[in-house]
Order: sequence, then C-alpha cells, then structure tokens
Amino acid sequence: MSNPASRSKDFFNAEGVSGLIRRAFTAASGYESADMTRPLIGICNTYSELNHCNSHLRAVSEAVKRGVLQAGGFPLEFPTISLGEVYLSPTSMLCRNLAAMDTEEMIRGNPLSGVVLLTNCDKTTPAALMGAASADLPTIMVSGGPMLNGHYQGEILGACTDCRRYSAEYEAGTITAETYKGVEKNLVRSAGHCMVMGTASTMNSLMEALGMALPGNGAIPASDSRRLQLAQAAGRQIVDLVERDIRPSQILTADAFDNAITLLNAVGGSTNAIVHLPAIAGRAGVDLPLSRFDEISRRSPLIANMRPSGEYQMEDLFYAGGIPAVLKQLLPLLHGDALTVTGRTLAENVADAEVSDPDIIRSLDDPLAPEGGLSILRGNLAPDGAVIKHAAATPALCQHRGPALVFKDADDVKARMNDPALEVTPDHVLVLQNAGPIGGPGMPEIGNLPIPPKLLKQGVRDMVRISDARMSGTSYGTIVLHVAPEAAIGGPLALVRDGDEIELNVAERRLQLHVSDAELAERRAEWSAPPPAYERGYGQLYLRSVNQAPLGCDFDFLRGRDPAGAVWQPKF
Ligand code: FES
Repeated sequence: MSNPASRSKDFFNAEGVSGLIRRAFTAASGYESADMTRPLIGICNTYSELNHCNSHLRAVSEAVKRGVLQAGGFPLEFPTISLGEVYLSPTSMLCRNLAAMDTEEMIRGNPLSGVVLLTNCDKTTPAALMGAASADLPTIMVSGGPMLNGHYQGEILGACTDCRRYSAEYEAGTITAETYKGVEKNLVRSAGHCMVMGTASTMNSLMEALGMALPGNGAIPASDSRRLQLAQAAGRQIVDLVERDIRPSQILTADAFDNAITLLNAVGGSTNAIVHLPAIAGRAGVDLPLSRFDEISRRSPLIANMRPSGEYQMEDLFYAGGIPAVLKQLLPLLHGDALTVTGRTLAENVADAEVSDPDIIRSLDDPLAPEGGLSILRGNLAPDGAVIKHAAATPALCQHRGPALVFKDADDVKARMNDPALEVTPDHVLVLQNAGPIGGPGMPEIGNLPIPPKLLKQGVRDMVRISDARMSGTSYGTIVLHVAPEAAIGGPLALVRDGDEIELNVAERRLQLHVSDAELAERRAEWSAPPPAYERGYGQLYLRSVNQAPLGCDFDFLRGRDPAGAVWQPKF
C-alpha cells in the first residue's frame, strides 16, 4: 500500500460523483475543504456508559482531537463495542474477538490514514490492538488510566482485590455488615480501571513495553490532568507516524513481545496477559509459545511492589516513576533498541525516567523476588500447558499433593460449595471442569474457586485450585489456570474424579494426575462432550472457531494479517 497519508487524501480528492458525495457529506458535518486535504485520523472510542472503566473516554477523545489538529491532521471519532467486566454476561472474554473484528473492519473499511485507539477495561485493550495489528495502519494506543486509591478506616482499598478479600472475611464472620457496606461505599472513588495490578493495569502497562503507547500510558491516573496531556500528545504523534509510515507490523516484533513479557513478570502482572499476548502476537505473525513466557519468567525479577502480589497500587506506582521507571530498571534485560510509537527506541523513551520511591520500584540488585511471578506448568493433567501466578500464591502450597474434589462445571460449584456437609479438607485440591474457552463458554474468570465456607470458618484462606478457566488479575491464591486442552474437548482435566491424587510442583513446573494410563484410557472411552452452549448466532461462531488458551483464544480465521493488503481501497 502507498503511504497511509495519501489514503484519506485520495479518498476526498476523487473525481466525479464519488468525490462530490464524499466532500459534500463531510462538509455537512461542518468541515471545510481544507480539512479534507489533511490526513484523516480515526479516534476509535470504546466509551460506554455500560462500562464504568471507559465512561470518561469522551474527554480523552477531545484531548486526542486537539493534538491531531495541532499537528495538522483531521480527526474523526468513531465508536466500537465496549466490553465492561462488571456488567457483561456470561463473560466479556466471549466478546473480545467480536470487538477485535469490529475494530479491524472499521479501520480497514474507512478511509483512515492512522488511528488512535481509546481503551481501558480489561478486554478493550487487547481487542483493539488485535484488530489494529491485523489492519496494520499507523496506530497509537491510549488508555483511560487507573482509578485513584480507595480509602476506608485508615486502609487503602483496591478494586477488586479487596472486593474478594472483604467478601471472604464477611463470609467467615470476621467483619460486620457495617464494615462490609463501608468497603462498598469507599472502594471506587473516581473514573478509571481497577487500580491494583489486575488485567487492565497489566495490559495498559504492557502497551508501553510493546512500544504501542506513549511513555506514561500505564500508570497516570484517569483523573490526573496528565492523562489528558498524554492523550493530546498521542494526537500529535499519530500524525507524525502517518507521515513517517510507521505501522504496528514494524513495532510488534518478537523482541517487543519479549519486552512485554519481561515487564509482565517484573510487575507481577495478570495471568490474563498469557492469553492476550499470544492472541496479539498471532495477529502480528509472531510465534509466541507458552514456553517463551516460562523462559523469560525465570530470568525476570519481580521489581514492582504491586497488589495483588505486593503492597501498592497504580496511583502509588505513578508517583514512584510509573512504567517508564520500571522499564528503565529492566533495560539490561530488554531489547532496548525496539522501535516504538514515539518513533524512537524503548531505551530512548525511558532514558530520563527516575525512581522516586525504591520501596515501590526496586532495582535489579534488590528485587522482591529473583524470578518472575508467573509459571507455565506441564504434566499429564495439562499436556499443552497451564498457568500459575505463584507470586500471588501461598508458598507452602506451591509444592502440594492432595486428593481431588471435582466440580463438573460452574453450576455444580454454585450448588455444592456452600454445603456444610461437603466433604473437604484443607489438603484437598479443588478441580473445576468445563470452564474453558468452549466449556465456559468464553473461558470465564471463575478459576479462583471460593474457599468452602466451612473451611473459611476454620481459618483456611487458600487451597490449591485447578481449572481450564481464567481468573481476574486482581485475584490471588494458589490457583492453576488455563489448563489445556480444556475439559470440554476431552482434555485430561475432564477425566479427573474425586479422590484422585494430584501433584503440583511449581519449582519443577509440574502438574501431575497420579492415575495410571490404563485407567485414564478407560475413563476416556466412557467420556462424552457436554452439549454445546450455543446453537446459533455469534455464540455458535465462537464455539466453531475459538482456539485453545495457548493460542490466545483468538478465532482460527483471524490470526495473521491479510496478505493482499491491510486496508480497503475505494473501487469508484
Ligand atoms: Fe474494568 Fe476492573 S472492571 S478494569
């Protein structure tokens, strides 16, 4: 394709009836002919009142527009679907690929020269980048930023780590209804995404390491004026990227993904990144096997002291220097020469960054842990891999052997977990089947199975839990996730029965079901797949096309870019 700047100019300059219609209809919105001679920059906005985390993005969009105009571009905003974690059922993950398709086709089909993607809540960021990577026009990611810290009774509150912690304490009877209500009222103070190092914080921070966002994108709070300044700067920068024809395909390289995984481990980021990064890499044509996550985890120290693994939240991280300061500490482990959307290298971007609080951002010489917080497990229970965030696990449980207590699906958990007669001990391994991409459906965030109330009352706060589901990045505990292949397609997880011995050994990266091969073969012969969750519509397309977790749960037909050219050119 020719320089992207000419894409919109050629569109508006067309001769005959096509050009007349395009110019006349654009002028009808109040624009002048001179506007149509400038590169058209799309501002792809996931604003929605059904998604609190993105509900302030109109103001962010206005800031981007100012920047585009300052740099001589022509900004036009357009919506794409917005996936809110709190409202969307059965899980926002079911619609991530739908959002990616929406983004890709709107970039491809409209006469844009470049695009700024406004995202925030968990799935909106990977979905938008997946679509943009396939469309491959000059792109900058701008997120809406994290919420401010919650405060209550002298404690800092974080969504949603404290939603879960206080709910467990209330269930155990250790806090009053009044305290519980007080947490609800004081948890969320501002616009923005969840402010612990959950999935949204993780993905929006990784955009800096991938080179797809300006420095500062990860941690500037949503309500801080510097968030709008960053958006305005992104508006100016996208015009420069268009003129220089710098596209995601030049930025999203194997080195960029290595950098993102290094940062993921250094900040104790969300396990969900181990689904989203392979999906984005798949769009960019980069091979990113799970083994790469484990290799990099072993050599990437944990240096950011962030909840749920550590003590601080995004607002604190911002004051301590933000993601640029973390990246600067990590430079010896990074590909510092990787190109970014600033038009400069990653190392150049962070050259002036400083750490102002070494308790929040440690140095490589004084890490919180010598290795990263995420491990890839293998064994006969997960031949294609499973994930554990051991940084947020109970160390004593990271080497554990115990009998399985099996729940055949989420409904089974709901029906039996609270039963006082449930036969369960702290040594049991809770197993959840049929909660993966197809079984869930949509691989819901239910892998952090609740501790049975009868054990909570005995003071138990963690147990080994295993599933093919995901969990929220704000969760914690000894929780094995993303078991592949999933149970609903006959993975070994489907064959586990109550009382089977299961061994978890994080140091050796092992997840073993101690049942003989002969016995497993007999069980497999008796196994049958659960009925499909959907018979029609998008749900049916999803079930037919979704890949397993190691490939990022993208649709099989969406991986890669269109070799014939990323974007549509007008025929007339
Ligand atoms: Fe949107 Fe937590 S609900 S980031």
